[in-house]
Amino acid sequence: MIISELSGKTYHVIIYGCQMNKHDGERIAGMLDSLGATRVDTIEESDIVIFVTCCVREAADVRLMGQAASLKNVPLREGAPVTKRIVAIGGCIGQRDGDKLVDTLPHIDVVFGTFNLSSLPRLLEQTILTGEPMVEVLDSADEFPTSLPSQREHSWAAWLPISIGCNNFCTYCIVPHVRGREKSRPMEDVLADARAYVADGVKEITLLGQNVNSYGRDLYGEPRFAELLRQVSATGIERIRFATSHPKDLNDEVIQAFAELPNLMPALHLPVQSGSNAILKKMNRKYTREHYLDIVRKLREVRPDIALSTDIIVGFPGETEEDFQQTYDLVREVGYHQVFTFIYSPREGTPAAKMILEDDTPREVIQERFQRLVDLVQEGAFAANQPEAGKVVPVLVEGSSRRDETMLTGRSPKNLTVHAHIPEGSDIDELKGTFVDVKINKAKTWYLAGEVL
Ligand code: 5AD
Ligand code: SF4
Repeated sequence: MIISELSGKTYHVIIYGCQMNKHDGERIAGMLDSLGATRVDTIEESDIVIFVTCCVREAADVRLMGQAASLKNVPLREGAPVTKRIVAIGGCIGQRDGDKLVDTLPHIDVVFGTFNLSSLPRLLEQTILTGEPMVEVLDSADEFPTSLPSQREHSWAAWLPISIGCNNFCTYCIVPHVRGREKSRPMEDVLADARAYVADGVKEITLLGQNVNSYGRDLYGEPRFAELLRQVSATGIERIRFATSHPKDLNDEVIQAFAELPNLMPALHLPVQSGSNAILKKMNRKYTREHYLDIVRKLREVRPDIALSTDIIVGFPGETEEDFQQTYDLVREVGYHQVFTFIYSPREGTPAAKMILEDDTPREVIQERFQRLVDLVQEGAFAANQPEAGKVVPVLVEGSSRRDETMLTGRSPKNLTVHAHIPEGSDIDELKGTFVDVKINKAKTWYLAGEVL
């Protein structure tokens, strides 16, 4: 092994945001471990703290600044091989703010962006050797992070990036500005990874991209996501999931895949953002409410048991009570298992951030609409879960329940959380990553409970 400045040092990774960021966290761990560093679970034990950041919404921004500033007060561990804790900020905020971060937060040592994860070990080594802050942010990627070693969070589940970046420019969204244009990985590379995961005992693969449905357009002149799904399915992997889908690109071929591929799980996250055509237009989403509902209808035709989830933004500039009501009605009509609700926050540099200047909807009105929607979402999730009661579902075990050591937690095909008593004489560590059949006897709003058969 090459001797590295990182050897013998401990690091802690703090991740904000999406699955892509969580996957980046696994790659960071893979790289640093291979250089002899050790991952730890707390800031207190760490010599190095690495933030993988998100700037999609304001809340994550605010949280990062707070947490990064408060690091100064956490003493080093006894015998630490550094005189000052090394702090690195990467991901979307690193990409967006670059040098500015070192100016506003003087104890930050390393800033990296979304395109140069692979530079992190070198930047850390340089700052340790020189004591100088290191900032490196690139405009585009010349390689996929998948070429870097990885340390998977769970041995039985793998995230598999199929594309990076986004070409859609939804008017509220910062992602295309910090993640660049869409770039797909060649199908053969994705499949090689999928086969390797299967050989390694992985049970569930989640294909990742900002818009998986347009996968391949840049490489093959047309989207080839449905074909990719078929090929990944043919590797024999037990469970396939994917995120995220854009309704405008979810075509009939992909819908058909839900009919044909038994290992493609009956769960789909399909962000609608709004149920009002006027707002969808202002958001530059390029589909209508009717088109969205038509996709839902077709999906249910081929896979009646499919569980749907979505994202919704409340309070987009100019949203009227009538627009909101359309969203509310759509949520009721679809009957989602899960809805992620967000209050609109302007992101500098996006077109919608300028629209808000002309908007006069009071904050309280937006807050009240948000609450009405959240109440409906809870009601809907409870209702959507009721048909699960009495069924026997195959559960991929994740571990023991955080609240109760005698219970196991896992996921059903629909990606619903399931709790059940650990069978007598079973060792939870041996159950992790295996399938158990659970007879559901209780369907709650956010989980199912039952007994292992
Ligand atoms: N304000 C509020 N929510 C946003 N999202 C993206 N940008 C914004 C914004 N500026 C939400 C969308 C997206 C999810 C990941 O975050 O609903 O689907
Ligand atoms: Fe953002 Fe729209 Fe791209 Fe999703 S599809 S990442 S919301 S611009």
